[in-house]
Amino acid sequence: MQEGGRAGKSSRGRRLIVDLPSLLPLNNDADSFEAQATSNLRGASNGNARFNDEAKSWDARPFVHEASQAAAKAILERLKALPKQPKQVLEIGCGTGILSFLMAPQVDRVVAVDAAEGMIEVLKQKLQKPDAPKNIVPVAVLLEDPNDRALPPADDSRPENERQKFDLITSHLVLHHIPDLQSVLKTMLGCLALGGRVMLTDFEDFGPQAKRFHPASKMAGVERHGINAKEMAELMRDVGFAAVDVKPAWTMSKRVEKHDGEFGDAGPKPELGEIMDFPFLLCYGERAT
Ligand SMILES: C[S@@+](CC[C@H](N)C(=O)[O-])C[C@H]1O[C@@H](n2cnc3c(N)ncnc32)[C@H](O)[C@@H]1O
Repeated sequence: MQEGGRAGKSSRGRRLIVDLPSLLPLNNDADSFEAQATSNLRGASNGNARFNDEAKSWDARPFVHEASQAAAKAILERLKALPKQPKQVLEIGCGTGILSFLMAPQVDRVVAVDAAEGMIEVLKQKLQKPDAPKNIVPVAVLLEDPNDRALPPADDSRPENERQKFDLITSHLVLHHIPDLQSVLKTMLGCLALGGRVMLTDFEDFGPQAKRFHPASKMAGVERHGINAKEMAELMRDVGFAAVDVKPAWTMSKRVEKHDGEFGDAGPKPELGEIMDFPFLLCYGERAT
């Protein structure tokens, strides 16, 4: 894969292939599937260059923790209002699993996928710690196909058959990296069980100033400067989601450059830039048929 989310542009050459016949028998134990899935990584070394590079230092950024905590809070609030709580969750673009860790205590299992093998490696290390949740399954894959064999099977006794369907799909700070939103939404719809839901969170494209979310050195792989709420809702309906509801869910402050390139290659420094507020959207939709 190439820089950032451009990975999604071309699928076939860069897709991770998991050779299921060589997998051990599958069961419901998350560790077991993790061992099988990640031992079959091939071709992930051409994974997402930018996010592979950033993986080791990702968790050292206070902003990513703060953003995932806000996302989890918004998602869990929204879940409270639902009659049936999700058990099986898929997170697409999980990075080092910060949001997956926050969701895991609330559900039976989180399948956490990311196109950057470096991110998944960091997640795997975090999962080895004694106090880590036991119900997160890390998978390195650029997910473009609901039947991708890197996903767990629907029936463990028939690992070569249909893939698992999910009650809830989350994806946080990922959509703005995806070149073809319609395509990823179709993939998400295909990964949902009947009655399943997506709750996707990303910063809002509220106008030209939204561009300031990323410093000049982090523009690689940025496909759009946030998500436009109206366009996203239309796209979700076009793809086939029901009960679509896209609206701002929280606002976060972020230190941004006062002029392009002010931060250089390093991250923001307290003595540079200025603080700006960014609204974040929660994009909700259901699979009704
Ligand atoms: C900005 S990072 C966010 C990571 C994490 N959600 C967080 O907030 O800490 C975006 C991530 O999405 C991943 N990604 C983008 N498109 C993807 C896809 N189709 N399948 C899996 N991962 C994808 C990238 O590899 C990258 O790690």
